[in-house]
This record gives sequence, C-alpha cells and structure tokens, in this order.
Amino acid sequence: MAAAGAGAFTVTRAPLITMAEGDLGTTGPRILVGYDSQYGSTGEVAVTVGQALAERARVSVRHLSHVDSVDDFDAIVVGAPVQQNRWKASATQWLGDHGTAISAVPWAIFLTSMSFGISPDRAGQTVAKQQLLAAAARVVPSPPKASAPFGGFLDYGRMAPANAAFYMLMAADDTAGDFRDFAEVTRWARKIGPLLLKP
Ligand SMILES: Cc1cc2nc3c(=O)[nH]c(=O)nc-3n(C[C@H](O)[C@H](O)[C@H](O)COP(=O)(O)O)c2cc1C
Repeated sequence: MAAAGAGAFTVTRAPLITMAEGDLGTTGPRILVGYDSQYGSTGEVAVTVGQALAERARVSVRHLSHVDSVDDFDAIVVGAPVQQNRWKASATQWLGDHGTAISAVPWAIFLTSMSFGISPDRAGQTVAKQQLLAAAARVVPSPPKASAPFGGFLDYGRMAPANAAFYMLMAADDTAGDFRDFAEVTRWARKIGPLLLKP
C-alpha cells in the first residue's frame, strides 16, 4: 500500500475566536468597558474590569466595533492590545473618532501586552507601556483618570498559520502563553471605580 506523502492532505482550520460582550450590574451609573482585540483575550480582561465595576454600576462590555456612540454612558474604560509596539491602531482610531464625547466624562485606559507580561523588568516595562498609553490617550482632549498595562495572552493555535509564522519570526523570544493576572485587573478596576463614579 502506498504511504500518503506529506503533501497528500490539506488541513483547513478556522480557529475559534470569541469576543466577549455582555451587560453587568443592575443599578447605578452607566459605564462602558469598550475594548479592541484581534484574538479575543483582551475581551476577557475587559469582562474582568466590568465585573469589578458592576459592584456599583451598570456596565456594558462591548467590542469597540459595536460602539457607535458613547453618549449614554457616565464613564468609559477602554482597552486594547499592543501591536507593533503601539496601542492597537484601530483602537486609537476609535478613541479619536469619539474623543470629544469621551472627554465629557471620566475615562480610563488599559492595554494588554506580551512583553509586559514576560519581561522580568516590570518597572521598566511599566514606564514604557505607560508612555505608550499616554501617546494613545492624547487623541482625547481630557486626560484619563487612570491608565494601566496588563500582561497579555498569545496562543498560536488561535492564529492563522501564516500570522503565527510571521509573529514567531518577528518575536525576539518565545512569546506564547497566558500572562494575564486577573486578580491584578480586578484590583485596578476596584481602585478606579471611585475615580470614574461621582459619589
Ligand atoms: C500582530 C501582533 C503584534 C503584537 N505586537 C506586540 C508588541 O509589539 N509588544 C507586545 O508586548 N505584545 C505584542 N503582541 C502581543 C499582544 O499584545 C498580546 O498577545 C495581546 O494580549 C493579544 O490580545 P488579543 O488576544 O485581544 O488580540 C502582538 C500580537 C500580535 C498578534
């Protein structure tokens, strides 16, 4: 019997990527936790932020592509992954498009990043990523009340093979893994609650 050669099979695979969305909390002011994401993991960070804020507010967690207006919200938190050493370009675009409306309410910004999660130099990474957040936030006339870098998540299995190959080529070290610290995210969200919500 002839053995099948390496080229005998074509593997097709569509990675399952979920962008989390939902409404949390029953009373209080309305907060948007909007996020951008390519592979879904920043959405899970956004949900964690939303869960903590929902202890005292009504929270809508949404992918930014589903947010046309921020007029109904009393406060806004917006997050996105770092890509090519910048806050994701489409998130910066969204922030600029809604900048005037956002500056009318208290707002906060966060990012997810693999180098922030992996690097042992947490202090240096914090400075670098806060600069990156400040650069992104400049498109909004008013400064954010708070900003935070968080570790990210990279799973080559969620990526199209060509993208995974490209990423592995570009990355200086092995960057796959889950470096999200959800307890840290919850602590930050609880801390910024009073900054976003008037008593
Ligand atoms: C195309 C691409 C470029 C990236 N560039 C960077 C980078 O410059 N610095 C970094 O720390 N992480 C970088 N990352 C890692 C992401 O920021 C991290 O995996 C993030 O948590 C992914 O979020 P997502 O699952 O919501 O898309 C990059 C990821 C991708 C896919």
